[in-house]
Amino acid sequence: MRLDKFLANMGVGTRSQVKDCIRQGKVAINGEIIKKPEQKVDEKKDCVSVDGKSIQFLNLQYYMLYKPQGFVTATEDREHKTVLDLVDSPIKRQLFPVGRLDKDTEGLLLITNDGTLAHELLSPKKHVKKVYYAKIAGKVTDEDIKAFQKGLDLGDFTTMPATLKILVQGDCSEILVEICEGKFHQVKRMFEAVGKKVTYLKRISMGTLQLDENLQPGEWRTLTESEIDNLKKGK
Ligand code: URA
Repeated sequence: MRLDKFLANMGVGTRSQVKDCIRQGKVAINGEIIKKPEQKVDEKKDCVSVDGKSIQFLNLQYYMLYKPQGFVTATEDREHKTVLDLVDSPIKRQLFPVGRLDKDTEGLLLITNDGTLAHELLSPKKHVKKVYYAKIAGKVTDEDIKAFQKGLDLGDFTTMPATLKILVQGDCSEILVEICEGKFHQVKRMFEAVGKKVTYLKRISMGTLQLDENLQPGEWRTLTESEIDNLKKGK
């Protein structure tokens, strides 16, 4: 594996941050400073260090969690239970959630130690699609569909076109919405912008990854090889 890829995978930084770090002469393989990001490293035999600190090779792990309400999407929190409290893994201390769901949002959360994949999925340039199911207080209308498609002015930014599908139309509506951004409270703010309130929110997919219907809130499973491959290929 290339040295820069190895370091990014181990969560040392993004691919470009680790390239800088290598070029600055901070990285050694078996004690020898290496300044070429493309240098090959045998992750099972070579000893790689950054600023003199050895980087342990960890197998990459991928978990799908059905996040329940009441847990914060963080690795540590003094007051609240975190999503990592729900996952049991031998390498738990290296894991992190990919992206954020609000404390009261449920649904699909990818948890991994693969820094490269996390960066790909979260990069604003990649426009990875996320689908949410929501219950809305108020009647969602065809006007709302058009407004979501056009883009909504949320004050600090205008949203990219989003696809809104009405499942149940009434005083309490049910919808599916597909967005390709991941701004803070984005879905809730989009509905606020059309004068409605989200009363329940659940993420059902992220890129190619779908929430497994057999999981209950709080349950998790490892990803299959094909789920991992598809996420990496973006297909
Ligand atoms: N949009 C929100 O408003 N909240 C979430 O948790 C995710 C998307």
